[in-house]
Amino acid sequence: MSTSRRRFIAGASALAVASTLPGCGGDGGEPQGGPGPSPSPDRGPEPEPWVPDGQLDLEAFAWGVQAGDVTDRAALISVRTLEASVDLTVVVASDQGWVEHEVRAGLQPVDGVLQLELTGLRPDTAYQLALHSSDGTRRSPAGRIRTAPSGEGSRRLVFGATSCLGTDNPGWESLQRLAEEQLDFVLLLGDTVYADGAVSLEDYRTHWRRALSTPSLRSLLASTSLIAIWDDHEVANNWTLGEGDALQDAVTPEQLSDALIAFREALPQRRGSGGSGLWRRLSWGPDLDLFLLDCRGERDGAQIVSEEQLAWITAELRASSATFKVVASSVHLTDHDALMGEAQAQDRWQGYPAQRDVLLEAAVEVPGVVVLTGDMHYGALQRVDPVDGPAAELREIAAGPAGSGLFLVEALAALRGEVPPQYEILVEDWSSCLCVLDPGLGTLTVSFIADDGSVIDTSVLQLSEPAV
Ligand SMILES: [Fe+2]
Repeated sequence: MSTSRRRFIAGASALAVASTLPGCGGDGGEPQGGPGPSPSPDRGPEPEPWVPDGQLDLEAFAWGVQAGDVTDRAALISVRTLEASVDLTVVVASDQGWVEHEVRAGLQPVDGVLQLELTGLRPDTAYQLALHSSDGTRRSPAGRIRTAPSGEGSRRLVFGATSCLGTDNPGWESLQRLAEEQLDFVLLLGDTVYADGAVSLEDYRTHWRRALSTPSLRSLLASTSLIAIWDDHEVANNWTLGEGDALQDAVTPEQLSDALIAFREALPQRRGSGGSGLWRRLSWGPDLDLFLLDCRGERDGAQIVSEEQLAWITAELRASSATFKVVASSVHLTDHDALMGEAQAQDRWQGYPAQRDVLLEAAVEVPGVVVLTGDMHYGALQRVDPVDGPAAELREIAAGPAGSGLFLVEALAALRGEVPPQYEILVEDWSSCLCVLDPGLGTLTVSFIADDGSVIDTSVLQLSEPAV
């Protein structure tokens, strides 16, 4: 374990940063002489950021632009505004710079939120969008997205990941660092808001308005599209629909419904399956399938997810032909027995061993799988089983926290006298992750980015065989 290496990357692009990291091609993917695998090409360049006409109005458009669940052809958009009617302008990157793609006039937000889907987009292409007041004089901040590659478009993919945007470190500055990277997308892995105590739809919306008006999150979501899952605090602390106790907040079905409405309107998501409609797959070209789990909305007794969801994820993993399979779970899959025993095991897969075994059996059977999680307030690269366990080769990346109270994981490891070898990186600091997938090399390079932009630690995972 190491937490001492730091290299400053602020102001550099992800591709530039990635080229300095081990295991990443540094020349944009040109074929290299001699034997051995070749890195995949980088995405094409984008024009300088678009500056729309009109005066930026951060009162009427205080919450920025959110784009979610982008595919190779479409994007979901959500924008909050004080305006009763707005016009939308979408521009597309071209050899001549930004050119107009679409203008929609007279759009009317509902409850202050405008939600729509952009369709007819080109694969692996950058777009920017902005809203204007109906007289055209005032505008929102511009938002950027990059569509997914098509089925044939193999290239390196660059994405961010984080979780737990709490109040102990309220600036969430590591998000600002990710915003400078022109990511393909960012994963929000749960606890994006801490809505504990909210009892009405307006309460939940207030939490989301507060979060979305925070400059670092607003910058990040203006810079790329989001892919979100939820954890408990989008509803209440360790919530339960039954009777609560000191550790579990009881919520009513109406509260749960209101929390879900507010979550979905703040962070646009395609409707998936299950009661909450949250678990789903997104494909990002031929090299990446993202499996987005709902580990909170279907808990019941010995089940952390419904049997339907478990059957779905295991079948999907086995059927996926993507080079990489990212499983996004708000809670850890890792067996933490060596570090913390069974403490709070009911808040992670460890407390549901029968279902965990079923998921692990599928995950270790196919190449290219990695798990991304949040929730526990420390960053990590960890094996999901001890080094001699059956799933020891499967890695979990714990991303974040960006702003919640830090779990004293290094102190805990020191108390144990050693860091169990299952834990390859532990980060006890506010941070977010920058990830680079290289299908040509079969690698995932993960870097833990601190609030000051330094790289706390980096590792290269060989997730699949290099391409031949
Ligand atoms: Fe959290």
